[in-house]
Amino acid sequence: MDDFSMNDLSGVVEADRAHVWHHLIQHKPFETGDPRIIVEGKGMRVWDQKGKEHIDAVSGAVWTVNVGYGRVEIADAVRDQLVRMNYFAGVSGSVPGARFAERLIEKMPGMRRVYYCNSGSEANEKAFKMVRQIAHKRHGGRKHKILYRERDYHGTTIGTLSAGGQDERNAQYGPFAPGFVRVPHCLEYRAQWDLAGEEYGRRAADAIEEVILAEGPDTVGALCLEPVTAGGGVITPPPGYWERVQEICRKHDILLHIDEVVCGVGRTGTWFGYQNYDVKPDMVTMAKGVASGYAAIACLVTTEEVFELFKDDQTDPLNYFRDISTFGGCTAGPIAALENMAIIEREDLLANTVAMGERMMGNLEVLKEKHAVIGDVRGKGLFLGAELVADRGTKEPMDEKKCQAVVADSMEQGVIIGCTNRSVPGFNNTLCFSPALIATPDDIDAITGAVDQALTRVFG
Ligand SMILES: Cc1ncc(COP(=O)(O)O)c(C=O)c1O
Repeated sequence: MDDFSMNDLSGVVEADRAHVWHHLIQHKPFETGDPRIIVEGKGMRVWDQKGKEHIDAVSGAVWTVNVGYGRVEIADAVRDQLVRMNYFAGVSGSVPGARFAERLIEKMPGMRRVYYCNSGSEANEKAFKMVRQIAHKRHGGRKHKILYRERDYHGTTIGTLSAGGQDERNAQYGPFAPGFVRVPHCLEYRAQWDLAGEEYGRRAADAIEEVILAEGPDTVGALCLEPVTAGGGVITPPPGYWERVQEICRKHDILLHIDEVVCGVGRTGTWFGYQNYDVKPDMVTMAKGVASGYAAIACLVTTEEVFELFKDDQTDPLNYFRDISTFGGCTAGPIAALENMAIIEREDLLANTVAMGERMMGNLEVLKEKHAVIGDVRGKGLFLGAELVADRGTKEPMDEKKCQAVVADSMEQGVIIGCTNRSVPGFNNTLCFSPALIATPDDIDAITGAVDQALTRVFG
């Protein structure tokens, strides 16, 4: 690894400060301090402009770089593909597009068609548009409502924010699109019903049916859920929840759209998060881990039944999905995704994710014994959260500034962790961990070791 402290990156820092509008961050502090520039990455580690090494426990800050940094095989495959054929609109096919779709469908029994686009938000928008088009063509426009869940997030556009269950993320961006209806969350730690375990899970799902009945089942077209809620607090569903959700969707002829933008392609130790819960979705969206950030790619995958609804009547000139994503025709995405999938298979990373996830959960449980500030730990595979509370008895959420102090202390120690941020009002209090699927026992122990020290320093 180069020693970046030998290079002068001050010009880069100044150019960034002068011209780059960063994502998700306030800029006033950059008037007195430097913005952080991530210069290089290898495996689980990244180096900043000062040459400081960090273990990245959040896979590129937003659970994306599943196979780790510096994968030459992905870069080589992308380069070879680009010089041969970089782009043609998705009205035609491409070699990597066809090959990746075939490989992906092998991992998703029951699913059949892959629609390419370039961000998680966009994939979810496509699914919403399909629901609306089906409603117009098949149900006289009535079955157009889309249910989404409190605390879930499906993207940053006005359409996907209309299905946004995190009120701080939505604040000041309204008015939103009509026809989106909220259902309650299923976080047992913050239980809305005095029940536990499977009873709680079934009750939380029944709450969805109550919304459906209140709205009128003939007005509801789809239910959109994250398999494990990410930015809303790393919420693993309670037992019994998904089975009941599936029953309810079938009973009321409602399409089940699962947003796998975070969980998809290995994060929870299965190819897809929903595969932990034995559910059969009608539509699945995915983005971040599909090519681990080596190229922009997102997919909306549907069953053949959904696809058929858009092709069975050739006499109707509107009867196809009248949609395009310009960059959905880029070949870099699917070729990178093919290599990404090959790496996961070759290195047996699903098994590693399960094993390292268990180790990390065990370590977090030990930290919970030691630090009263940890109210709850939860997660699946290498997708974990620790909710911090001011009082274990009342579960009063910890002040978010203190949670951010834990993140900052870990960063000082050279370990990048996350925390729910501008998400659910009053509940920006869950530390988030999503290391790359290549993590070793030493990496896991180094991450939780840093968190231990940070908690001790911030809370005593
Ligand atoms: C569950 C979920 N869905 C959708 C998105 C939006 O994806 P993108 O930022 O690629 O548009 C995100 C992004 O964090 C997400 O966490």
